[in-house]
Amino acid sequence: MGKSFSLPRGTADILPSDITAWRYLESSARQFFSVYNYKEIRTPNFEETELFARSMGQSSDVVQKQILSLRSQKADAAEDSGLALRPEGTASVVRSYIQNNVDRKESLSKYFYIGPMFRGERPQKGRLRQFHQMGVEAIGPDSASPYLDAEVIALAVNLLKGLGLKGFTLKINTLGSKEDKEAFSKKLREDLKPHLAKLSDESKQRYERNVFRILDSKSKEDKAIVKNLKLDHSYLSKESLDYYTKVKENLTALGVAFEESVDLVRGLDYYTHTVFEICDSSLGAQDALGAGGRYGTLVAQLGGSDNVEAIGFALGMERILLALGKVDIKQSALDTFVIAMDDAAVSYAFHVLNKLRASNISADMHFKGGSAKSQMRIANKSGARFTVIIGAQEVQNKTVTLKDMDSGEQEELALQEAISKIKS
Ligand code: HAM
Repeated sequence: MGKSFSLPRGTADILPSDITAWRYLESSARQFFSVYNYKEIRTPNFEETELFARSMGQSSDVVQKQILSLRSQKADAAEDSGLALRPEGTASVVRSYIQNNVDRKESLSKYFYIGPMFRGERPQKGRLRQFHQMGVEAIGPDSASPYLDAEVIALAVNLLKGLGLKGFTLKINTLGSKEDKEAFSKKLREDLKPHLAKLSDESKQRYERNVFRILDSKSKEDKAIVKNLKLDHSYLSKESLDYYTKVKENLTALGVAFEESVDLVRGLDYYTHTVFEICDSSLGAQDALGAGGRYGTLVAQLGGSDNVEAIGFALGMERILLALGKVDIKQSALDTFVIAMDDAAVSYAFHVLNKLRASNISADMHFKGGSAKSQMRIANKSGARFTVIIGAQEVQNKTVTLKDMDSGEQEELALQEAISKIKS
């Protein structure tokens, strides 16, 4: 017996029985994105590793621990030795924006994407190595507006509501400008200094590398220390505070409920000003349905123009499906199932099957034949609305017998008549 294989850890098959829920998610998202005038972009599933290091930050957990690199089998692997599967969509969209000089063509570009992302994390409920995000990025010289922040956040919230989710909360915060953020990290280091010895080993390293990450620490001791820090917005410039106030006013005007959370800093380096996270406590430890924020300097950092800002979010699709629970959406039913009553009828039945399909009627048949009774059982299981029965009489008359599976009524018809009836 040959070796049997199973899924790589942290991945999942999306089976035909799951597809209806996925399609529902995707089509609702597309609908919302189009109502807000976001256009789809599809970038490759892998990019230069350096792109992710430079954008998400060398010291971020994702870049430190979770990048899945590609290794070529070829002897001269030099060319693709620096490639990695994308852990998120933002860096790729910005790379494409810069590469295509989009800032010279339009002042604001609104993109959306739906697709798989890859992170080498320890798998657990709601945390996979291949997962899917649906997200948006609004990029351009004209993107620095608190109305756009509110639009992007409202889009995420309204999409989740539109899908039927209710029990989530939106947390928002501001990190301020690049300069404010530096002042914040300096202040944070000063405030944490007296507690340095008591911090977890990981947070001791974070203290130097990326002090903001200490605020996200899961360790009990770290949490207690952070709680006593009495974080506030004193490090923010007046402009940054005014901007944040306007974002909040706009959200209120749009009827979007939010909680302010001064310790929300996000794990990726590129954020400035507005940051947000949407959590659903029913999900347990991995409770973030999605997150996002403004990134004012990333475009310049990746070689684009200095005056191009951006904001976006990404929602985790597996987590949305977990939060939705079993979505009761009917699989689209098969229109017809063709039954050949005996071997002599199979070839004509096969012809009828293909005529039905050519008329855009979904149709299937059981090629192995078998008794009429067993075929009827298969037809029933397929959920088909009609069966098309072919026996000696139908072959002789060049007709079909059409049976309505709901009412049980059946009649012998010319194929064209049957087609019209199925379509009506
Ligand atoms: P993120 O917070 O790293 O942000 O991920 C966004 C969402 O993706 C998470 O809230 C979660 O729902 C989902 N997610 C992340 N990792 C996993 C995983 N291992 N398994 C399952 N779901 C996961 C970003 O990715 C940013 N690019 C968001 C953004 C867009 N910021 C600005 N624009």
